Amino acid sequence: MTDTSLHQLVSAASGDPRALRNLLGQFATGVTVITTVGAAGRKVGMTANSFSSVSLDPPLILWSLARTAPSLADFLGASHFAINVLGQDQHGLSGHFARPAEDKFAGIEHHSGTAGVPLLEGAIATLVCRNLTQYEGGDHLIFLGQIEHYRHSGGEPLVFHAGQYRVAAAHPALAG
Ligand SMILES: Cc1cc2nc3c(=O)[nH]c(=O)nc-3n(C[C@H](O)[C@H](O)[C@H](O)COP(=O)(O)O)c2cc1C
Repeated sequence: MTDTSLHQLVSAASGDPRALRNLLGQFATGVTVITTVGAAGRKVGMTANSFSSVSLDPPLILWSLARTAPSLADFLGASHFAINVLGQDQHGLSGHFARPAEDKFAGIEHHSGTAGVPLLEGAIATLVCRNLTQYEGGDHLIFLGQIEHYRHSGGEPLVFHAGQYRVAAAHPALAG
């Protein structure tokens, strides 16, 4: 059987990078702020939607960081980092931690967890991870972390899809 849809495929090598970025944005994700403590105790945090679970036994997660990110050296040198899963009302925090700033934690409610890693108040889930290793990932580095502690505070997640913040809703065909 001939798959006619194959004829509509665009080569990723010759295609438009913006089109590829838009296409990848069709995969809906949650939104996290990944935090750590860098050299001289400086608190570091950045918005990331590349977070994914990897393994339950042992409990492993991954996320990827742009090689050009100012926080790269801090994350490479850290013993631990935390994944703060944002709730639906925390879109402002997502924007805040996606912009470079001298002290991103000024005026942001948080407290210090394992190894001094800042944990954001109001996150719907928090995972404190040992920074196990990194893998090459093109223009990103893939961080593998082992979950050491976690907290589930509950609440509805913030969703990111097609470059927009959204909320999760029960599927209309399945609700009830
Ligand atoms: C919703 C959203 C998701 C993002 N996901 C990632 C990501 O997974 N990896 C990454 O390197 N940057 C990601 N970014 C961009 C970073 O948050 C942004 O470049 C940030 O300034 C990096 O922090 P830094 O400047 O302190 O290094 C994302 C931004 C947004 C708004």
